[in-house]
Amino acid sequence: MGKALDNTNSEIDEYLRSQEQKGMLRFITCGSVDDGKSTLIGRLLWDSKMLFEDQIATLASESKRVGTQGGNLDYALLLDGLQAEREQGITIDVAYRFFATDKRKFIVADTPGHEQYTRNMVTGASTADLAVILIDARKGILTQTMRHSFLVSLLGIKNVILAVNKMDLVDYDNHVFNKIVQEYNEFAAELDFNAVTPIPLSALAGDNIIAHSENMRWYQGPTLLSHLEDVQVDEDLEDKPFRLPVQWVNRPNLDFRGFSGTVASGSIHIGDGIVEPASGQTSTVKDIVTFDGSQETAYAGQAITITLNDEIDISRGDTLCALQDRPVTADQFEAKLVWMSSEELLPGRNYILKMGANTSTARVSALKYKINVNTLEHTAAKTLALNEIGVCNFALDKAVSFDAYGENRKTGSFILIDRFTNETVGAGVIDFALRRAENIHWQSVDIDKKARAEQKSQQPAVLWFTGLSGSGKSTIANQVEKKLHIMGKHTYLLDGDNVRHGLNKDLGFTDADRVENIRRVGETAKLFADAGLITLVSFISPFRSERQMARNLMEEREFLEVFVDTPLEICEERDIKGLYAKARAGEIKNFTGIDSAYETPENAEIIIEGGKLSVEAAADVIIETLKEKGII
Ligand code: ADX
Repeated sequence: MGKALDNTNSEIDEYLRSQEQKGMLRFITCGSVDDGKSTLIGRLLWDSKMLFEDQIATLASESKRVGTQGGNLDYALLLDGLQAEREQGITIDVAYRFFATDKRKFIVADTPGHEQYTRNMVTGASTADLAVILIDARKGILTQTMRHSFLVSLLGIKNVILAVNKMDLVDYDNHVFNKIVQEYNEFAAELDFNAVTPIPLSALAGDNIIAHSENMRWYQGPTLLSHLEDVQVDEDLEDKPFRLPVQWVNRPNLDFRGFSGTVASGSIHIGDGIVEPASGQTSTVKDIVTFDGSQETAYAGQAITITLNDEIDISRGDTLCALQDRPVTADQFEAKLVWMSSEELLPGRNYILKMGANTSTARVSALKYKINVNTLEHTAAKTLALNEIGVCNFALDKAVSFDAYGENRKTGSFILIDRFTNETVGAGVIDFALRRAENIHWQSVDIDKKARAEQKSQQPAVLWFTGLSGSGKSTIANQVEKKLHIMGKHTYLLDGDNVRHGLNKDLGFTDADRVENIRRVGETAKLFADAGLITLVSFISPFRSERQMARNLMEEREFLEVFVDTPLEICEERDIKGLYAKARAGEIKNFTGIDSAYETPENAEIIIEGGKLSVEAAADVIIETLKEKGII
């Protein structure tokens, strides 16, 4: 007797790792329960031959064998990242089911159609070869049909089955079917599909699922299962340029240094030339080792360890590539970003960008527009909310190697992770590299920071004052600057209200604008420190992430965070500018402490109890600390 494997995620990982990729079709079903999706999947599982018990036993032993080899063989970049997310404890609602016929093995990614649809669909579709888009024959093409089709196309699936279900409820009428097909084809012309195969069926009655329906003799095409068995979806990964994302460097003893991972695309032979494109180092392949020993050649999908004829410096996260056919290496690119967090995207904020095992720090340098997934319209946007998709420019802290997603689904995608919560917040597919930085180099200058600081006989520093509006930041900073000035120190005070009259005139008080406000002032403070100045920065700077960003811009011990910790009640009582009263009256929106968050510093070098200390006393505390730290 057969049995369907209604799996858990670890089972699917192990299953995939232990399977030869050949003869396997991965597909995703898109539609809602109302469209008859569960019935359809249930029928496929039931009517086809299921996995036999002995296969399941093999699977278990295979997995064990593979598991001892260090694990972590990526079979897809995007899904891999999302698996990391699962480890982080966030559930993605995708059920993978397995079944097999004599001709093929199948993995169905079944994503529920509820509100988290985008995120789930992205997970399910990122590794699928084909999508079954379900339509209720009575309802025809709906908004969600377009949404699903767009996402499927975005994720690079080229083959679609348009499953027009519930034909029994429209009297098996071919006109109904033809009309739906025509309408769909018009819409799908805008999308990037190679083939759309329409099939009229009834999941409930079993029409055209396995056997041809007696009720629809007018239909001459394949049944659902026969099409799934026969469809050619091979992306021909083997014909693409060789890419081996290095998962780990294998060094059991001094004589052996191998680079392990799963071949993402192409093939490699002993003796072939390879390059690590980010550094430009090259070598030739000495040996290819697999679980079954050495072999001459390895192909896409195989887990291998390769050794090289030269000692070159390669680490986890690098990609070994065909010498003659290199990927792009750049630190800026345009990508389509699917936002997966209930916290909105903040362009300007630094996130962790993960491409396979390669991590970097990245921010959205421009959100060009967002795409309405229901209508495909482009609209201007300042941020992305959960499930929204935007076209963005990204700026990374280092160059990475990649291919455009359209050319290689394995090496052209990434995920974004929040640096503080560790949550996976977005998934992206790369359109193209941006060349803007390519012809810009660092110009070396003879008069440097050290020279400028020495001339002033001082140590540059950044005193970063943070706290609520009315906490006393600016008053205290002003007092500190006066004291430093009297001591003959060269200083500059960057004050929120003042900078917002000039450089940051274009910014308001949304979270996104505050992030950009602090990014710019952080960069400015860095320049002033480079000028050799003791720079005082007085901004509310409500978010931990951006204060950390500013800290990271400076040298160690150069940055001192001063938390002016004055309770909200006192700030509000003082209300020097009358802003709290206005905020309480609802006349100012997004006011810090009222309806906009202030994240309390966790590692401030100096904490001033603003409600208790006088301005003079607070300034003295800061001057003393500067002396203790050897800055003055
Ligand atoms: S920050 O949050 O982006 O760092 P910033 O320090 O530049 O803020 O500006 C804060 C000053 O702008 C406050 O001291 C206050 O005078 C004024 N302001 C006007 N609207 C707001 C608001 N919604 N929230 C906070 N401050 C505001």
